[in-house]
Amino acid sequence: MGVKEKVATSTSNGFFSIWFLMFLVLSVTPLVFSRTLPEDPDPCDAMKLRDFEKLRSDQIAVLINGYSESRIPLLQSIVAAYSGSSIVSSILVLWGNPTTPAQLLDHLYHNLTRYSLGTASISLIQQSSSSLNARFLPRPSVDTRAVLICDDDVEVDNKSLEFAFSVWKSNPDRLVGMFVRSHGFDLQGKDWIYTVHPDKYSIVLTKFMMMKQDYLFDYSCNGGVEMEEMRGIVDTMRNCEDILMNFVAADKFRAGPVMVGAERVRDWGDARNEEEQEQVENGVREAGLSSRRVEHRKRRGKCIREFHRVMGKMPLLYSYGKVVNSVGEQGLCRKSGKLVFCDRD
Ligand SMILES: *[C@@H]1O[C@H](CO)[C@@H](O)[C@H](O)[C@H]1NC(C)=O
Ligand SMILES: *[C@@H]1O[C@H](CO)[C@@H](O)[C@H](O)[C@H]1NC(C)=O
Repeated sequence: MGVKEKVATSTSNGFFSIWFLMFLVLSVTPLVFSRTLPEDPDPCDAMKLRDFEKLRSDQIAVLINGYSESRIPLLQSIVAAYSGSSIVSSILVLWGNPTTPAQLLDHLYHNLTRYSLGTASISLIQQSSSSLNARFLPRPSVDTRAVLICDDDVEVDNKSLEFAFSVWKSNPDRLVGMFVRSHGFDLQGKDWIYTVHPDKYSIVLTKFMMMKQDYLFDYSCNGGVEMEEMRGIVDTMRNCEDILMNFVAADKFRAGPVMVGAERVRDWGDARNEEEQEQVENGVREAGLSSRRVEHRKRRGKCIREFHRVMGKMPLLYSYGKVVNSVGEQGLCRKSGKLVFCDRD
């Protein structure tokens, strides 16, 4: 940030007084609204001067979407858990519900910082737009190469978080996640669909999506009219921003995502769609799909077809298998005739 300000003032002397005024506003604002970061008028512009190689690589920033007031206790527990991990440098709670009273958000912010366990900085940001695309806006305050995008319904233990980060470090161009889905081609309908395959996947869900920060910029700022149209589809469908991010990453790097296993995941499901309630371990559960779930899958299929139409190709690629933490590291013990991890009782 400091560098950016210097560049701005030295290259535009004519506007010095304006920059100085902005500087004043920016430095005073946090005192008035301590829970929010100053809104960036144009995040795409602000990120242009950024050298991603210079961002820190030993920690991650966590971007959590929050919307439902009834889930605030859960959100608090998730933020506290992430804040206890030494690899988390900052946590940004992106509040997407415009009707939530400011006073409630003040309390929430107070609680979030009070129960934080580590040194991670915590901010609560009231999103200026209710667009689902807003969760992927680049954040100038984020100074890490990797970001973790997640929802307010999944709590991951910090050992698994660290493991996912180590997997990401060796696959920095790919999306790394714990919850996966898949695109498919329906031979009868002769069209793309959204589905779950037992042995392969091509889509990482935003319940836990780790990726390089650059993809935020690619999603929000690059890609010209094509990306603009696809972001428009997300707004029209009020869904599928996660699928579009998978399109963006797969198209750029021509590789599918990586699925990592977690030790302890608590998944409370997404209030907006039942379909997401199935845990990744449960695998395929085609039988007994509720009608809401079927509807949800149809809508997601429509998104895939629309993105495919706009791009004129199908960039999504399949990956196979799941990367798990080395069992040898934990050791197996024989207990009542069964092999179990030694640190479990
Ligand atoms: C993991 O989280 C717990 C609290 O949830 C914390 O006490 C511990 O220090 C964390 N471990 C690491 C390695 O960050
Ligand atoms: C803040 O924490 C207190 C005490 O745990 C709780 O009663 C209250 O509902 C919380 N409020 C918000 C907005 O998180």
